[in-house]
Amino acid sequence: MRLPFLLLVCVAAALSSAVVISPPHMWSKLILTHHWPNTFCSMEHCHLNVSYWTLHGLWPDKGIDCNSSWHFNSSQIEDLLPDMNKSWPDLINPSSPSFWKYEWHKHGTCAAKAASLDSQHKYFSKALELYHKLDLNSILKKFDITPSEKYYTFSQIEGVIENVYGIKPKIQCAHPSKNADVQVLGQIEICFDADFTLLDCEKRLTVEAISKGGRGDDKGVFKTSGFSVCDHDTPIYYPSHP
Ligand SMILES: *[C@@H]1O[C@H](CO)[C@@H](O)[C@H](O)[C@H]1NC(C)=O
Ligand SMILES: *[C@@H]1O[C@H](CO)[C@@H](O)[C@H](O)[C@H]1NC(C)=O
Ligand SMILES: *[C@@H]1O[C@H](CO)[C@@H](O)[C@H](O)[C@H]1NC(C)=O
Ligand SMILES: *[C@@H]1O[C@H](CO)[C@@H](O)[C@H](O)[C@H]1NC(C)=O
Repeated sequence: MRLPFLLLVCVAAALSSAVVISPPHMWSKLILTHHWPNTFCSMEHCHLNVSYWTLHGLWPDKGIDCNSSWHFNSSQIEDLLPDMNKSWPDLINPSSPSFWKYEWHKHGTCAAKAASLDSQHKYFSKALELYHKLDLNSILKKFDITPSEKYYTFSQIEGVIENVYGIKPKIQCAHPSKNADVQVLGQIEICFDADFTLLDCEKRLTVEAISKGGRGDDKGVFKTSGFSVCDHDTPIYYPSHP
């Protein structure tokens, strides 16, 4: 009888502390997702050729499509467009704002529940700011993780990110075939708390996120993007061409 009671107390304590951290309507974590265009473009028909990590999105850990009447309006981020084009390009449709519109509706309207992100300009400029602050492209290069014909181990890549940022990322790969002896580096997620402080990506999941099994891949515009968490024991290919 004792053990179940203790378990209940623990669960109750865990639940109540999670609620304190995150009121029911609010997210508690932001996921800044970078993707590697050469991997993405080996699965999709791209019209842009870039060889640096670009933004996929800035995703709160809670909520999808939070306000369908809050329409994307690119004239509100006019000053950001040159940087958006470069850092957050639509690889499939470079001349269209549809990727940004999609990300705004699906994730931005939920992120906007925080006062710090409650406009399109705040949301997109914060994503760009975090992307530049992290400077993942330079960090990987600096520690000799570069596109190459040779393979990397999972811990080589994770190790660089952990050492530099002091947190655990979530690293996702494409798995070209089942039982393959290689996987392809596809996405790197770096997480922040609501104050934009770096956070382990697996830490402080909300009750809702746990019950949903956490956030998976962002499908939708990128319908066939088949990324999943990289296997820790399979060599990783970091392609220099699509
Ligand atoms: C893409 O760019 C790289 C280097 O910037 C170049 O080597 C490659 O040939 C280009 N590929 C295409 C399809 O334009
Ligand atoms: C949804 O967005 C519209 C337009 O910005 C705004 O007027 C409205 O208050 C928002 N609704 C909620 C529930 O936040
Ligand atoms: C888009 O934003 C601009 C600048 O704030 C505003 O003038 C315009 O009316 C908005 N367009 C729509 C369709 O809401
Ligand atoms: C962004 O890129 C698109 C397509 O390459 C181009 O049509 C548009 O003029 C660019 N906008 C800015 C502000 O650079």
